[in-house]
Amino acid sequence: MATLAGPVLGIETSCDETAAAVLAPDGRVLAEALLSQQEHAPYGGVVPEIAARAHLVHLPRLAMAVMHEAGTGFAQLGGVAATAGPGLIGGLIVGSNFAKGVALGQGVPYVAVNHLEAHALTARLPSVSPEGLAFPYLVLLISGGHCQLVAVEGVGRHRRLGGTIDDAVGEAFDKVGKMLGLAWPGGPALERLAGEGDPRRFTLPRPMLGRPGCDFSFSGLKTAVARLAAAHSDARADLAAGFQAAVADVLADRASHAMAAFAATHPGRTLVVAGGVAANGALRRGLAQAAEAHGFRLLAPPPRLCGDNAVMVAWAGIERLRLGLTDGLDHAPRPRWPLDSLAPGAVAPAAAPG
Ligand code: KG4
Ligand code: ZN
Repeated sequence: MATLAGPVLGIETSCDETAAAVLAPDGRVLAEALLSQQEHAPYGGVVPEIAARAHLVHLPRLAMAVMHEAGTGFAQLGGVAATAGPGLIGGLIVGSNFAKGVALGQGVPYVAVNHLEAHALTARLPSVSPEGLAFPYLVLLISGGHCQLVAVEGVGRHRRLGGTIDDAVGEAFDKVGKMLGLAWPGGPALERLAGEGDPRRFTLPRPMLGRPGCDFSFSGLKTAVARLAAAHSDARADLAAGFQAAVADVLADRASHAMAAFAATHPGRTLVVAGGVAANGALRRGLAQAAEAHGFRLLAPPPRLCGDNAVMVAWAGIERLRLGLTDGLDHAPRPRWPLDSLAPGAVAPAAAPG
């Protein structure tokens, strides 16, 4: 295991969050900053070109601010890590080129971080698992762009058990939010509205429920809500509650299949839920029940670490640097970068050292 020479600067620019963070070599957060771009709200979705330009405007200031707050000079860094994919290519270019500039200028190592791996490794942050979380564990990654179940066997070692065949779950929340007249992104507002509604008033489909395997589908559910929303304009809260309950049932069912498959082949009985949608309380409760029924514990990082952030990127950088894994300045950012294609061969430590 390699010794880290100093703190690590992490940078996240893969979607519409511009974020920078500095972590000490042991994973303590020295400084973090996150800016959720508001420029997209009028369009009801992220506009890639606007996102890239906004990252270009905001990132240097955020990076300088966290370095100042951490009391770290650029020359003292033990490494600089940036999300290099998957995501919107314009933003990925802005973030990774900034990181490469620092690496080149200061002669410190550069780490190209896979955004999905960063979400998956967040559970091993010392503040999330003070007692350490050993590999392997199971991750349900639910965000605006991703919906998948992954066995995390080590740094760079991931086995995808299933994923969505149409919409990501956050995307479904956002589209249903739009149907119900909520501001974008609809997830958090939809959860609040659902709290006022009756989830049993409408019978909504639960796609894939009970089917073998660990894949997901949300388009049928979305269409059913659209049809009902057109016919019952006074039933927004009940529709939100019904939709959320259906999603909770589907996630719990799919995660149950994954836990059974994982338990048959792996030691370790932890189900981690990650990604922006993991902030949803009703979904977490459904998953906690399913986990308990399978003898798993559910580990959910605090909501601010579930959504996109730079702490997770710096931490993924630390995990890689500890194993001596760095990337060349010729590493090209990748809009598509599946988790199970990450370079194998990394030796997995038993638990995150404190
Ligand atoms: O991980 P994230 O910040 O960004 C990526 O998509 O990578 O996730 C954002 C997604 C959005 O679709 C948002 O609507 C959803 O997470 N979300 C929620 C909640 N909070 C955020 N969905 C349901 N319930 C919530 N409380
Ligand atoms: Zn994300």
